[in-house]
Amino acid sequence: MDVTLETRRLVLRPPHPADARRMASFLDNFAVSGNLSRVPYPYRLADARDYLARWQKDAPAEETNFVIDLDGECCVGQIGFHGDAFGPVVGYWLAQPFWSRGLMSEAARAAIAWYFETTGALELRSGVFHFNRASLAIQRKLGFVETGISMRHCLARGEQVRHIDTILTRAAWAERDGQ
Ligand SMILES: CC(C)(COP(=O)(O)OP(=O)(O)OC[C@H]1O[C@@H](n2cnc3c(N)ncnc32)[C@H](O)[C@@H]1OP(=O)(O)O)[C@@H](O)C(=O)NCCC(=O)NCCS
Repeated sequence: MDVTLETRRLVLRPPHPADARRMASFLDNFAVSGNLSRVPYPYRLADARDYLARWQKDAPAEETNFVIDLDGECCVGQIGFHGDAFGPVVGYWLAQPFWSRGLMSEAARAAIAWYFETTGALELRSGVFHFNRASLAIQRKLGFVETGISMRHCLARGEQVRHIDTILTRAAWAERDGQ
């Protein structure tokens, strides 16, 4: 879906082919890709171009992907939604130079607020590889709760990794929204 959101420091906007170089340079970092399920390492310009070429602006809201711009900095990360066998899922990454400034908390709050306003979804799933304390902290702050442990393949690591599964219900979000 072709939508743009603004927060205090960020613009969340549709991906564009011109994002390929920045995306490739930031994702070609094991500290980022090693925390994600579906991103290869090394990550090449061709991978970014291929991903961006497949983006469809008329995709349903449930499959919306945002590129994150920070003030003058273009494409510092992404947050997006997709569906799996259990329902809607949110995933995200931020380029390493921008970590620990509360940016993904800010982006995720805006994207999830938009998601629940725009779709009829009653819940949103996510989770983290077991070592990803920062991402788990973000999800807990947003109202996600842990539902169990599963094994998930990590493309960058080339192996199955223990994954903490989480869920955010519309009701829990409504209680926390605005905090
Ligand atoms: C995980 C990631 C998105 C965090 O982005 P960020 O903008 O640095 O996160 P924020 O600053 O908004 O919030 C991080 C929170 O984690 C906390 N945190 C950071 N390191 C932590 C650790 N080792 N243990 C516990 N909490 C930690 C921070 O204190 C902060 O919580 P607070 O706001 O309550 O203080 C970013 O590091 C990233 O993209 N990593 C690689 C890809 C990835 O992991 N994606 C998510 C896959 S589930």
